[in-house]
Amino acid sequence: PEELLITYKGVLYPSVLCCTETFQALDTIEVRKDDVFLATYPKCGTNWIEHILNDLTSAVLREEVPRTKHLQILEFGVPEKFQKIKSLPSPRLFTTHLNCDNIPKAVLGSNAKLLVLFRNPKDVAVSYYRFYNKNPMLPNVSSWDEFFQKFMSGEVCWNSYFDHILAWNKHMDKENIMIITYEEMKENLPQGVKQIAEFLGFSLPEEKIQSIAENAAFESMSNTSQETYGKFGPILFRKGTVGDWKNLFTEAQSQEMDAKFEECLAGTKLGARLKY
Ligand code: PPS
Repeated sequence: PEELLITYKGVLYPSVLCCTETFQALDTIEVRKDDVFLATYPKCGTNWIEHILNDLTSAVLREEVPRTKHLQILEFGVPEKFQKIKSLPSPRLFTTHLNCDNIPKAVLGSNAKLLVLFRNPKDVAVSYYRFYNKNPMLPNVSSWDEFFQKFMSGEVCWNSYFDHILAWNKHMDKENIMIITYEEMKENLPQGVKQIAEFLGFSLPEEKIQSIAENAAFESMSNTSQETYGKFGPILFRKGTVGDWKNLFTEAQSQEMDAKFEECLAGTKLGARLKY
């Protein structure tokens, strides 16, 4: 049913998680120079990179940091949360699914480190489709074909992934921004963890990087998902692979998305990195 969704400035959001007052309060957020932001469209591997960031923070602080001690999702929750945010210990970690055009100016204008995570759009669409139908906070969609059309036209929560990619593509070359992709993390997780640590200026021994990478492997996170995420665990950690789209896309859908992808990203550095 439609009451599961709200619209703010033309973008759809789940009403259980997001409200107008929080979006408004977001505009006045004060950024610290050691804040770390993770920006990703839904289903690109948000929880995966959050987990890595949390483990890196624990390692640097030399204490076992509970998941939510430093971490906040920018646009979720009630506006009263901004009181708590002010008193969170550094380094604060913020996740957001917002398109960069909707991210508070204070964030983009700051020197805080910003990780931008992408995943190939075909696997994102499939992961999102499964999530829509398993997550009680989102409306059910009757068929993959229906969802595919909605995904292509951006009639899903956080709107169009293609617009999201295009908006971020303008900011790629800034020094405080690092682009990571799901596929590259999957290909070489220890290297990915190491690059993130270096970007954040965290100096850690090689063994620590290795053990953080081991903890962040899909099997490891999936096995402990119920402890960390409760009943959402099995919904969030579904398959964790590259190429699951081949099980669902028709040839025509694949071509339609290829054309859209080409139209958005032909010739860009990012386009070359999002292989699928
Ligand atoms: S959400 O709901 O937007 O926050 O979802 P998000 O966390 O961004 O993305 C969920 C997908 O990421 C996969 N995932 C992983 N893949 C590889 N390794 C690890 N450790 C990992 N953790 C999560 C998860 O399985 C979802 O993808 P699909 O394709 O649905 O399995």
